[in-house]
Amino acid sequence: MHMVLGILGSGSGSNMQAILDAIDSGTLNARISIVLSDCPDALILERARKRGIETGVIDCSGFRNKFPDEAQRETAQRLLAAGVEVVCLAGFLRLVKRPLLDFFPNKILNIHPSLLPAFPGLEAWKQALDAGVTEAGCTVHFVDEGMDTGPILLQESLPILAGETADSLHARIQCIERRIYPDALRKLLRENLSAH
Ligand code: GAR
Repeated sequence: MHMVLGILGSGSGSNMQAILDAIDSGTLNARISIVLSDCPDALILERARKRGIETGVIDCSGFRNKFPDEAQRETAQRLLAAGVEVVCLAGFLRLVKRPLLDFFPNKILNIHPSLLPAFPGLEAWKQALDAGVTEAGCTVHFVDEGMDTGPILLQESLPILAGETADSLHARIQCIERRIYPDALRKLLRENLSAH
């Protein structure tokens, strides 16, 4: 089975790059058909353009953090027009809710830099350090209406080291992210296959 992916991101796009690399190496049977961002200057758009992938900007002007309903509907239309089956949030920093969820029920994934359900929200690695826990990690999960609350698809932990800083922890978490996002997509493909 082959999966058509749409990616939403606000940042550098290293997770998208990891997914692309897995596709290129023939270890993930998928295609990225469109990459959308709420930040016109985001590096993720540049990386996608360089690869000849269709890109677009999600217009959330006037809203600092919110993902307005109208913008969600437009996003859904663009994703559907590009033939997207599964949506991957990859560093997308706005909360996805209905109406977008209704267009892709159980088909939107997110990667979050913590061992969910611990530390939802922004800068989760800093939250973990501040809380003094001994383990951090990252999670790929299905998106529901909550903030980082949907069912978990894949998760991996790592120990917090002596002398760890926010930057060092985030960098180590991101290394794992780049491995587990493609892994989670492979798992989804396998599970979908066995369901048919
Ligand atoms: C990643 O570390 C991801 O976990 C985080 O944003 C970064 C995006 O990096 N996402 C969140 O914090 C979502 N709550 P990237 O643009 O290089 O993939």
